[in-house]
Amino acid sequence: MPGKFGDLVGAIDEGTSSARFLIFRAESSEIIASHQKSVTNIFPKEGWYEQDPQEILDVVNECITKAIEKLIELGGEAKDLIAIGITNQRESTIVWDSETGEPLYNAIIWSDIRTIPTVEELLQKVPNNTKNKNYLKPLCGLPVSTYFSAVKLKWLLDNAPRVKAVVKADKKLFFGTVDTWLIWNLTKGVHITDVTNASRTMLMNLETLEWDPILKDFFEVPDNVILPTIKSSSEVYGYMNEGVLKDVPISCCLGDQQAALVGQRCLEMSEAKCTYGTGCFLLYCTGNVKVDSTYGLLTTVAYQLENQAPVYALEGSVAVAGSCLSWLKDNMEIIHSLEEIDTLVKSVKDNGDVYFVPAFSGLFAPHWDSEARGIICGITEETERGHFVVAALESVCFQVRDILDAMNLECGTPLTKLKVDGGMTNNSMLMQWQADLIGLEVSKPSMIETTALGAAMFAGHAVGKWDINAKTDVKARKFKPQISEDERDVRFKKWKMAIERSLGWDQ
Ligand code: G3P
Repeated sequence: MPGKFGDLVGAIDEGTSSARFLIFRAESSEIIASHQKSVTNIFPKEGWYEQDPQEILDVVNECITKAIEKLIELGGEAKDLIAIGITNQRESTIVWDSETGEPLYNAIIWSDIRTIPTVEELLQKVPNNTKNKNYLKPLCGLPVSTYFSAVKLKWLLDNAPRVKAVVKADKKLFFGTVDTWLIWNLTKGVHITDVTNASRTMLMNLETLEWDPILKDFFEVPDNVILPTIKSSSEVYGYMNEGVLKDVPISCCLGDQQAALVGQRCLEMSEAKCTYGTGCFLLYCTGNVKVDSTYGLLTTVAYQLENQAPVYALEGSVAVAGSCLSWLKDNMEIIHSLEEIDTLVKSVKDNGDVYFVPAFSGLFAPHWDSEARGIICGITEETERGHFVVAALESVCFQVRDILDAMNLECGTPLTKLKVDGGMTNNSMLMQWQADLIGLEVSKPSMIETTALGAAMFAGHAVGKWDINAKTDVKARKFKPQISEDERDVRFKKWKMAIERSLGWDQ
Protein backbone atom coordinates (compact mmCIF):
# COMPACT_ATOMS: atom_id res chain seq x y z
CA MET A 1 0.00 0.00 0.00
CA PRO A 2 1.51 3.39 -0.99
CA GLY A 3 1.78 5.77 1.98
CA LYS A 4 0.61 9.33 2.59
CA PHE A 5 2.26 10.75 -0.56
CA GLY A 6 1.70 7.78 -2.89
CA ASP A 7 4.64 6.33 -4.83
CA LEU A 8 7.86 8.26 -4.36
CA VAL A 9 10.98 8.37 -6.50
CA GLY A 10 14.39 9.51 -5.23
CA ALA A 11 16.99 11.36 -7.28
CA ILE A 12 20.67 11.56 -6.40
CA ASP A 13 22.05 14.70 -8.06
CA GLU A 14 25.82 14.68 -7.63
CA GLY A 15 26.92 18.00 -9.18
CA THR A 16 30.31 19.68 -9.29
CA SER A 17 29.84 21.77 -6.16
CA SER A 18 27.39 19.73 -4.10
CA ALA A 19 25.39 16.53 -3.84
CA ARG A 20 21.64 16.38 -3.29
CA PHE A 21 18.97 13.82 -2.70
CA LEU A 22 15.44 14.84 -3.69
CA ILE A 23 12.27 12.86 -3.17
CA PHE A 24 9.56 13.33 -5.81
CA ARG A 25 5.94 12.28 -5.86
CA ALA A 26 5.59 10.11 -9.00
CA GLU A 27 2.02 11.21 -9.55
CA SER A 28 2.64 14.99 -9.61
CA SER A 29 6.43 15.59 -9.90
CA GLU A 30 6.17 17.56 -6.64
CA ILE A 31 9.26 17.62 -4.40
CA ILE A 32 8.36 16.27 -0.96
CA ALA A 33 11.75 16.40 0.78
CA SER A 34 15.38 17.01 -0.06
CA HIS A 35 18.83 17.46 1.43
CA GLN A 36 21.95 19.05 -0.01
CA LYS A 37 25.59 19.13 1.09
CA SER A 38 28.70 20.47 -0.58
CA VAL A 39 31.79 18.40 -1.35
CA THR A 40 35.30 19.70 -0.56
CA ASN A 41 37.18 21.03 -3.57
CA ILE A 42 40.87 20.19 -3.70
CA PHE A 43 43.22 22.36 -5.78
CA PRO A 44 46.70 20.78 -5.37
CA LYS A 45 48.32 22.97 -8.04
CA GLU A 46 47.31 25.72 -10.44
CA GLY A 47 44.80 24.27 -12.92
CA TRP A 48 44.40 21.02 -10.95
CA TYR A 49 40.94 20.29 -9.53
CA GLU A 50 40.13 17.17 -7.52
CA GLN A 51 37.54 15.75 -5.10
CA ASP A 52 37.85 12.80 -2.73
CA PRO A 53 35.75 9.87 -4.12
CA GLN A 54 35.09 8.56 -0.61
CA GLU A 55 33.78 11.97 0.46
CA ILE A 56 31.53 12.11 -2.64
CA LEU A 57 30.04 8.78 -1.60
CA ASP A 58 29.73 9.74 2.09
CA VAL A 59 28.02 13.03 1.22
CA VAL A 60 25.55 11.23 -1.06
CA ASN A 61 24.73 8.74 1.71
CA GLU A 62 24.31 11.57 4.22
CA CYS A 63 21.94 13.40 1.85
CA ILE A 64 19.86 10.23 1.44
CA THR A 65 19.64 9.67 5.20
CA LYS A 66 18.77 13.31 5.99
CA ALA A 67 16.17 13.59 3.21
CA ILE A 68 14.49 10.39 4.41
CA GLU A 69 14.44 11.78 7.98
CA LYS A 70 12.66 14.88 6.63
CA LEU A 71 10.22 12.66 4.72
CA ILE A 72 9.43 10.73 7.90
CA GLU A 73 8.85 14.00 9.81
CA LEU A 74 6.29 14.89 7.13
CA GLY A 75 4.47 11.60 7.62
CA GLY A 76 6.01 9.58 4.77
CA GLU A 77 8.03 6.39 4.97
CA ALA A 78 11.26 5.12 3.37
CA LYS A 79 9.36 2.14 1.99
CA ASP A 80 7.32 4.48 -0.23
CA LEU A 81 10.36 4.97 -2.46
CA ILE A 82 9.93 2.69 -5.43
CA ALA A 83 13.00 3.68 -7.45
CA ILE A 84 16.11 5.84 -7.41
CA GLY A 85 17.68 7.75 -10.29
CA ILE A 86 21.25 9.01 -10.46
CA THR A 87 22.42 12.12 -12.25
CA ASN A 88 25.92 13.44 -12.01
CA GLN A 89 28.65 15.87 -12.99
CA ARG A 90 29.98 14.33 -16.19
CA GLU A 91 33.53 13.50 -17.39
CA SER A 92 35.06 13.64 -13.88
CA THR A 93 37.17 10.50 -13.65
CA ILE A 94 37.76 7.95 -10.89
CA VAL A 95 39.82 4.73 -10.88
CA TRP A 96 39.72 2.17 -8.09
CA ASP A 97 41.30 -1.12 -7.09
CA SER A 98 39.17 -4.05 -8.29
CA GLU A 99 40.00 -6.12 -5.19
CA THR A 100 39.82 -3.62 -2.33
CA GLY A 101 37.46 -1.06 -3.90
CA GLU A 102 39.85 1.68 -2.77
CA PRO A 103 40.20 4.73 -5.03
CA LEU A 104 43.72 4.85 -6.52
CA TYR A 105 43.65 8.63 -6.89
CA ASN A 106 41.28 11.53 -6.21
CA ALA A 107 38.50 12.16 -8.74
CA ILE A 108 39.91 14.43 -11.45
CA ILE A 109 37.16 16.98 -12.04
CA TRP A 110 35.96 17.83 -15.55
CA SER A 111 37.34 21.37 -15.61
CA ASP A 112 40.85 20.35 -14.42
CA ILE A 113 43.47 21.37 -17.01
CA ARG A 114 46.55 19.42 -15.89
CA THR A 115 46.21 17.41 -19.08
CA ILE A 116 47.18 20.24 -21.47
CA PRO A 117 50.52 18.43 -22.16
CA THR A 118 48.66 15.09 -22.47
CA VAL A 119 46.44 16.64 -25.16
CA GLU A 120 49.56 17.89 -26.98
CA GLU A 121 51.14 14.44 -26.78
CA LEU A 122 47.95 12.76 -28.04
CA LEU A 123 47.65 15.17 -30.96
CA GLN A 124 51.14 14.12 -32.12
CA LYS A 125 49.55 10.75 -32.90
CA VAL A 126 47.15 12.20 -35.47
CA PRO A 127 48.25 11.02 -38.95
CA ASN A 128 50.03 13.40 -41.36
CA ASN A 129 51.19 15.57 -38.46
CA THR A 130 48.03 17.71 -38.71
CA LYS A 131 47.46 17.71 -34.91
CA ASN A 132 43.78 17.96 -35.82
CA LYS A 133 41.88 18.00 -32.51
CA ASN A 134 38.71 16.88 -34.33
CA TYR A 135 40.37 13.71 -35.62
CA LEU A 136 38.26 11.40 -33.42
CA LYS A 137 35.02 13.38 -33.76
CA PRO A 138 33.50 11.07 -36.40
CA LEU A 139 33.69 8.22 -33.86
CA CYS A 140 32.88 9.88 -30.54
CA GLY A 141 31.53 13.35 -31.40
CA LEU A 142 34.15 15.14 -29.27
CA PRO A 143 37.41 17.03 -29.88
CA VAL A 144 40.57 15.95 -28.06
CA SER A 145 40.43 18.24 -25.02
CA THR A 146 41.36 18.35 -21.34
CA TYR A 147 37.59 18.13 -20.66
CA PHE A 148 36.98 14.47 -21.41
CA SER A 149 37.57 11.35 -19.31
CA ALA A 150 39.87 9.37 -21.63
CA VAL A 151 42.43 12.17 -21.51
CA LYS A 152 42.26 12.19 -17.69
CA LEU A 153 42.58 8.39 -17.64
CA LYS A 154 45.68 8.61 -19.85
CA TRP A 155 47.19 11.08 -17.36
CA LEU A 156 46.40 8.75 -14.45
CA LEU A 157 47.97 5.77 -16.22
CA ASP A 158 51.10 7.79 -17.01
CA ASN A 159 51.48 9.71 -13.75
CA ALA A 160 49.62 8.38 -10.70
CA PRO A 161 52.00 6.07 -8.76
CA ARG A 162 49.28 3.75 -7.37
CA VAL A 163 47.62 3.42 -10.77
CA LYS A 164 50.95 2.64 -12.41
CA ALA A 165 51.73 0.07 -9.70
CA VAL A 166 48.44 -1.80 -10.25
CA VAL A 167 49.03 -1.95 -14.01
CA LYS A 168 52.68 -2.99 -13.51
CA ALA A 169 51.64 -5.81 -11.17
CA ASP A 170 49.22 -6.92 -13.92
CA LYS A 171 46.24 -6.47 -11.62
CA LYS A 172 42.86 -5.04 -12.56
CA LEU A 173 41.47 -1.61 -11.85
CA PHE A 174 37.98 -0.21 -12.40
CA PHE A 175 37.42 2.97 -14.39
CA GLY A 176 34.31 5.06 -13.93
CA THR A 177 32.73 8.48 -14.09
CA VAL A 178 30.91 9.61 -10.92
CA ASP A 179 27.71 7.69 -11.80
CA THR A 180 29.68 4.44 -12.10
CA TRP A 181 31.55 5.02 -8.83
CA LEU A 182 28.28 5.70 -6.97
CA ILE A 183 26.35 2.78 -8.46
CA TRP A 184 29.24 0.36 -7.86
CA ASN A 185 29.37 1.39 -4.20
CA LEU A 186 25.64 1.69 -3.54
CA THR A 187 24.89 -1.73 -5.05
CA LYS A 188 28.17 -3.26 -3.81
CA GLY A 189 29.54 -4.33 -7.14
CA VAL A 190 27.38 -3.46 -10.18
CA HIS A 191 29.89 -1.87 -12.59
CA ILE A 192 27.86 0.05 -15.19
CA THR A 193 27.42 3.43 -16.78
CA ASP A 194 24.77 4.75 -19.16
CA VAL A 195 25.06 5.92 -22.76
CA THR A 196 25.00 9.61 -21.83
CA ASN A 197 27.89 9.40 -19.40
CA ALA A 198 29.78 7.00 -21.67
CA SER A 199 29.37 9.48 -24.54
CA ARG A 200 31.50 11.98 -22.57
CA THR A 201 34.51 9.69 -22.09
CA MET A 202 35.80 9.75 -25.73
CA LEU A 203 35.91 5.96 -25.58
CA MET A 204 32.35 5.15 -26.74
CA ASN A 205 31.40 4.87 -30.39
CA LEU A 206 28.31 7.04 -30.94
CA GLU A 207 26.82 4.65 -33.51
CA THR A 208 27.37 1.27 -31.83
CA LEU A 209 27.07 2.64 -28.27
CA GLU A 210 29.94 0.34 -27.30
CA TRP A 211 33.51 0.94 -26.20
CA ASP A 212 35.41 1.41 -29.44
CA PRO A 213 38.69 -0.50 -29.97
CA ILE A 214 40.14 2.32 -32.12
CA LEU A 215 39.47 4.86 -29.37
CA LYS A 216 40.82 2.54 -26.66
CA ASP A 217 43.92 2.07 -28.75
CA PHE A 218 44.37 5.81 -29.38
CA PHE A 219 44.26 6.53 -25.64
CA GLU A 220 46.39 3.43 -24.88
CA VAL A 221 43.91 1.94 -22.42
CA PRO A 222 45.42 -1.38 -21.26
CA ASP A 223 43.36 -4.52 -20.63
CA ASN A 224 43.96 -4.09 -16.89
CA VAL A 225 41.52 -1.17 -16.98
CA ILE A 226 38.00 -2.56 -16.71
CA LEU A 227 35.49 -0.25 -18.35
CA PRO A 228 31.90 -0.36 -17.06
CA THR A 229 29.15 -2.07 -19.05
CA ILE A 230 27.20 0.52 -21.03
CA LYS A 231 23.43 0.47 -20.34
CA SER A 232 20.43 2.54 -21.39
CA SER A 233 19.49 5.57 -19.24
CA SER A 234 16.32 3.98 -17.85
CA GLU A 235 16.33 0.37 -16.61
CA VAL A 236 16.95 -1.45 -13.35
CA TYR A 237 20.73 -1.77 -12.95
CA GLY A 238 20.78 -3.12 -9.39
CA TYR A 239 19.48 -2.56 -5.88
CA MET A 240 20.62 -0.44 -2.93
CA ASN A 241 22.71 -2.76 -0.82
CA GLU A 242 22.35 -1.17 2.61
CA GLY A 243 21.03 1.82 4.56
CA VAL A 244 17.52 3.23 4.83
CA LEU A 245 16.77 2.46 1.18
CA LYS A 246 18.12 -1.12 1.11
CA ASP A 247 16.63 -3.13 -1.81
CA VAL A 248 15.22 -0.08 -3.66
CA PRO A 249 16.10 -0.40 -7.37
CA ILE A 250 18.47 2.06 -9.02
CA SER A 251 16.79 2.53 -12.39
CA CYS A 252 18.07 5.69 -14.04
CA CYS A 253 21.48 7.01 -14.86
CA LEU A 254 21.91 10.26 -16.79
CA GLY A 255 24.67 12.84 -17.07
CA ASP A 256 23.40 15.98 -15.34
CA GLN A 257 23.01 18.10 -18.49
CA GLN A 258 21.10 15.34 -20.23
CA ALA A 259 18.94 14.91 -17.12
CA ALA A 260 18.04 18.62 -17.28
CA LEU A 261 17.08 18.15 -20.94
CA VAL A 262 14.73 15.34 -19.88
CA GLY A 263 13.43 17.35 -16.89
CA GLN A 264 12.64 20.29 -19.22
CA ARG A 265 10.81 17.76 -21.41
CA CYS A 266 12.99 18.44 -24.44
CA LEU A 267 12.59 14.85 -25.57
CA GLU A 268 11.96 15.54 -29.25
CA MET A 269 13.93 16.96 -32.17
CA SER A 270 14.56 20.77 -32.11
CA GLU A 271 13.91 21.27 -28.39
CA ALA A 272 16.66 22.87 -26.35
CA LYS A 273 17.57 23.97 -22.84
CA CYS A 274 20.39 25.82 -21.16
CA THR A 275 21.49 25.03 -17.59
CA TYR A 276 23.42 27.64 -15.61
CA GLY A 277 25.56 26.09 -12.85
CA THR A 278 29.30 25.98 -12.18
CA GLY A 279 29.54 25.91 -15.96
CA CYS A 280 26.79 26.46 -18.47
CA PHE A 281 25.50 23.89 -20.95
CA LEU A 282 23.13 24.31 -23.89
CA LEU A 283 21.76 21.05 -25.31
CA TYR A 284 19.69 20.84 -28.48
CA CYS A 285 17.85 17.60 -29.10
CA THR A 286 18.34 16.17 -32.62
CA GLY A 287 16.10 13.09 -32.19
CA ASN A 288 17.45 9.84 -33.60
CA VAL A 289 19.79 11.76 -35.90
CA LYS A 290 23.46 12.05 -34.96
CA VAL A 291 24.45 15.47 -36.30
CA ASP A 292 28.19 15.92 -36.86
CA SER A 293 29.11 19.46 -35.89
CA THR A 294 31.24 21.75 -38.02
CA TYR A 295 30.81 24.79 -35.78
CA GLY A 296 32.56 23.68 -32.61
CA LEU A 297 29.66 21.91 -30.89
CA LEU A 298 29.75 18.44 -29.38
CA THR A 299 27.68 15.51 -30.59
CA THR A 300 26.46 13.58 -27.61
CA VAL A 301 23.79 11.10 -26.55
CA ALA A 302 20.75 12.87 -25.06
CA TYR A 303 19.22 9.70 -23.62
CA GLN A 304 18.21 6.15 -24.42
CA LEU A 305 15.21 4.30 -23.09
CA GLU A 306 15.61 0.55 -22.61
CA ASN A 307 15.45 -1.40 -25.91
CA GLN A 308 14.94 1.78 -27.92
CA ALA A 309 17.08 3.71 -30.36
CA PRO A 310 19.26 6.42 -28.81
CA VAL A 311 18.26 10.07 -28.99
CA TYR A 312 21.14 12.46 -29.73
CA ALA A 313 21.87 16.09 -28.94
CA LEU A 314 24.21 18.84 -29.96
CA GLU A 315 25.87 20.50 -27.00
CA GLY A 316 27.60 23.79 -26.39
CA SER A 317 29.57 23.64 -23.14
CA VAL A 318 30.86 26.67 -21.25
CA ALA A 319 33.45 25.86 -18.56
CA VAL A 320 33.02 28.95 -16.37
CA ALA A 321 29.62 30.43 -15.49
CA GLY A 322 28.65 30.52 -11.79
CA SER A 323 32.25 29.78 -10.82
CA CYS A 324 33.18 33.22 -12.21
CA LEU A 325 31.30 34.85 -9.32
CA SER A 326 32.96 32.53 -6.79
CA TRP A 327 36.29 33.67 -8.26
CA LEU A 328 35.33 37.34 -7.71
CA LYS A 329 34.48 36.45 -4.12
CA ASP A 330 37.17 33.96 -3.10
CA ASN A 331 40.19 35.00 -5.17
CA MET A 332 39.66 38.70 -5.81
CA GLU A 333 37.52 39.54 -2.75
CA ILE A 334 35.66 42.03 -4.96
CA ILE A 335 32.43 40.72 -3.45
CA HIS A 336 32.12 39.34 0.05
CA SER A 337 29.04 37.22 -0.31
CA LEU A 338 26.91 36.10 -3.22
CA GLU A 339 24.05 38.11 -1.69
CA GLU A 340 26.06 41.28 -2.30
CA ILE A 341 25.83 40.76 -6.08
CA ASP A 342 22.48 42.51 -6.46
CA THR A 343 23.56 45.57 -4.49
CA LEU A 344 26.75 45.93 -6.52
CA VAL A 345 24.94 45.50 -9.83
CA LYS A 346 22.47 48.19 -8.83
CA SER A 347 25.31 50.53 -7.82
CA VAL A 348 26.24 51.08 -11.50
CA LYS A 349 24.08 51.94 -14.49
CA ASP A 350 25.66 49.46 -16.94
CA ASN A 351 28.86 47.48 -17.53
CA GLY A 352 30.91 50.69 -17.89
CA ASP A 353 32.24 49.21 -21.15
CA VAL A 354 34.07 46.50 -19.19
CA TYR A 355 34.17 43.02 -20.78
CA PHE A 356 35.36 39.95 -18.90
CA VAL A 357 36.23 36.64 -20.59
CA PRO A 358 36.57 34.11 -17.74
CA ALA A 359 38.70 31.62 -19.70
CA PHE A 360 40.26 30.22 -16.52
CA SER A 361 40.55 26.71 -17.95
CA GLY A 362 40.78 27.65 -21.60
CA LEU A 363 37.64 28.16 -23.64
CA PHE A 364 35.27 25.33 -24.44
CA ALA A 365 32.56 25.59 -27.13
CA PRO A 366 32.71 26.84 -29.77
CA HIS A 367 36.43 27.73 -29.54
CA TRP A 368 38.00 24.64 -27.88
CA ASP A 369 41.18 26.54 -27.08
CA SER A 370 42.95 25.22 -23.98
CA GLU A 371 45.48 28.04 -24.30
CA ALA A 372 42.88 30.81 -23.96
CA ARG A 373 43.16 32.66 -20.63
CA GLY A 374 40.94 35.02 -18.66
CA ILE A 375 40.97 38.66 -19.67
CA ILE A 376 39.24 41.85 -18.48
CA CYS A 377 39.16 44.69 -21.02
CA GLY A 378 37.94 48.27 -21.00
CA ILE A 379 39.01 49.34 -17.48
CA THR A 380 39.29 53.09 -16.90
CA GLU A 381 39.76 55.29 -13.85
CA GLU A 382 35.98 55.31 -13.51
CA THR A 383 35.70 51.52 -13.24
CA GLU A 384 34.14 50.34 -9.98
CA ARG A 385 33.52 46.98 -8.31
CA GLY A 386 29.97 46.96 -9.67
CA HIS A 387 31.28 47.04 -13.25
CA PHE A 388 33.33 43.90 -12.63
CA VAL A 389 30.27 42.12 -11.29
CA VAL A 390 28.08 43.20 -14.24
CA ALA A 391 30.84 42.15 -16.68
CA ALA A 392 31.12 38.74 -14.95
CA LEU A 393 27.37 38.15 -15.20
CA GLU A 394 27.25 39.36 -18.79
CA SER A 395 30.10 37.00 -19.69
CA VAL A 396 27.73 34.11 -19.00
CA CYS A 397 25.11 35.61 -21.36
CA PHE A 398 27.67 36.34 -24.09
CA GLN A 399 29.07 32.80 -23.92
CA VAL A 400 25.54 31.46 -24.36
CA ARG A 401 25.09 33.80 -27.34
CA ASP A 402 28.30 32.39 -28.90
CA ILE A 403 26.89 28.88 -28.57
CA LEU A 404 23.46 29.81 -29.79
CA ASP A 405 24.93 31.35 -32.93
CA ALA A 406 26.90 28.14 -33.61
CA MET A 407 23.77 26.06 -32.88
CA ASN A 408 21.66 28.10 -35.33
CA LEU A 409 24.30 27.76 -38.07
CA GLU A 410 24.50 24.02 -37.42
CA CYS A 411 20.79 23.30 -37.35
CA GLY A 412 19.50 25.71 -39.99
CA THR A 413 16.30 26.28 -38.00
CA PRO A 414 17.03 29.02 -35.44
CA LEU A 415 15.69 28.53 -31.93
CA THR A 416 12.70 30.74 -31.18
CA LYS A 417 12.98 30.64 -27.40
CA LEU A 418 15.42 29.35 -24.80
CA LYS A 419 14.34 27.17 -21.87
CA VAL A 420 16.62 27.74 -18.90
CA ASP A 421 17.27 26.19 -15.49
CA GLY A 422 19.96 25.84 -12.83
CA GLY A 423 20.85 27.89 -9.75
CA MET A 424 21.86 31.10 -11.56
CA THR A 425 18.41 31.43 -13.16
CA ASN A 426 17.14 32.62 -9.78
CA ASN A 427 18.79 35.90 -10.68
CA SER A 428 16.03 37.59 -12.70
CA MET A 429 18.29 40.42 -13.79
CA LEU A 430 20.65 37.89 -15.35
CA MET A 431 17.78 36.21 -17.19
CA GLN A 432 16.59 39.58 -18.52
CA TRP A 433 20.11 40.35 -19.78
CA GLN A 434 20.22 36.91 -21.35
CA ALA A 435 17.01 37.64 -23.29
CA ASP A 436 18.42 41.06 -24.29
CA LEU A 437 21.74 39.70 -25.49
CA ILE A 438 20.37 36.80 -27.54
CA GLY A 439 17.26 38.61 -28.79
CA LEU A 440 15.02 35.69 -27.83
CA GLU A 441 12.45 34.95 -25.18
CA VAL A 442 13.94 33.16 -22.17
CA SER A 443 11.57 30.81 -20.38
CA LYS A 444 12.27 29.74 -16.81
CA PRO A 445 10.05 27.05 -15.27
CA SER A 446 8.82 27.72 -11.74
CA MET A 447 10.40 24.42 -10.69
CA ILE A 448 14.10 24.74 -11.57
CA GLU A 449 15.19 21.37 -10.14
CA THR A 450 14.92 19.98 -13.64
CA THR A 451 18.13 17.92 -13.40
CA ALA A 452 16.89 15.87 -10.47
CA LEU A 453 13.41 15.76 -12.00
CA GLY A 454 14.82 14.22 -15.22
CA ALA A 455 16.53 11.47 -13.20
CA ALA A 456 13.36 10.82 -11.19
CA MET A 457 11.22 10.68 -14.36
CA PHE A 458 13.43 8.04 -15.99
CA ALA A 459 13.81 6.04 -12.74
CA GLY A 460 10.03 5.99 -12.27
CA HIS A 461 9.50 5.13 -15.94
CA ALA A 462 11.80 2.08 -15.66
CA VAL A 463 9.59 0.60 -12.93
CA GLY A 464 6.37 1.46 -14.75
CA LYS A 465 5.31 4.29 -12.41
CA TRP A 466 5.98 7.47 -14.38
CA ASP A 467 4.44 8.44 -17.70
CA ILE A 468 7.23 10.51 -19.24
CA ASN A 469 5.04 11.54 -22.19
CA ALA A 470 2.18 12.84 -20.09
CA LYS A 471 1.35 16.44 -20.98
CA THR A 472 2.12 18.57 -17.96
CA ASP A 473 1.23 22.16 -17.41
CA VAL A 474 4.66 23.68 -16.74
CA LYS A 475 4.37 27.16 -15.26
CA ALA A 476 7.15 29.37 -16.55
CA ARG A 477 8.31 32.97 -16.18
CA LYS A 478 9.09 34.57 -19.54
CA PHE A 479 11.75 37.22 -20.16
CA LYS A 480 11.43 39.11 -23.45
CA PRO A 481 14.23 41.11 -25.11
CA GLN A 482 14.09 44.81 -24.22
CA ILE A 483 17.03 46.33 -26.09
CA SER A 484 17.33 47.27 -29.74
CA GLU A 485 19.07 45.10 -32.31
CA ASP A 486 21.68 47.82 -32.79
CA GLU A 487 22.57 47.94 -29.12
CA ARG A 488 22.74 44.13 -29.01
CA ASP A 489 25.11 44.10 -31.99
CA VAL A 490 27.42 46.78 -30.61
CA ARG A 491 27.77 44.98 -27.29
CA PHE A 492 28.31 41.59 -28.92
CA LYS A 493 31.00 43.08 -31.18
CA LYS A 494 32.88 44.30 -28.09
CA TRP A 495 32.60 40.83 -26.56
CA LYS A 496 34.05 39.30 -29.72
CA MET A 497 36.99 41.71 -29.50
CA ALA A 498 37.62 40.58 -25.92
CA ILE A 499 37.43 36.91 -26.98
CA GLU A 500 40.04 37.53 -29.71
CA ARG A 501 42.43 38.86 -27.08
CA SER A 502 41.88 35.87 -24.83
CA LEU A 503 42.47 33.12 -27.44
CA GLY A 504 45.91 31.48 -27.53
CA TRP A 505 47.18 33.60 -24.61
CA ASP A 506 49.14 30.79 -22.94
CA GLN A 507 51.18 29.75 -25.99
O1 G3P B 1 30.20 18.50 -18.03
C1 G3P B 1 30.25 18.98 -16.71
C2 G3P B 1 28.87 19.13 -16.16
O2 G3P B 1 28.21 17.91 -16.17
C3 G3P B 1 28.91 19.77 -14.79
O3 G3P B 1 27.68 20.26 -14.45
O4 G3P B 1 26.06 21.49 -13.07
O5 G3P B 1 27.79 20.11 -11.97
O6 G3P B 1 28.44 22.23 -13.09
P1 G3P B 1 27.48 21.08 -13.05
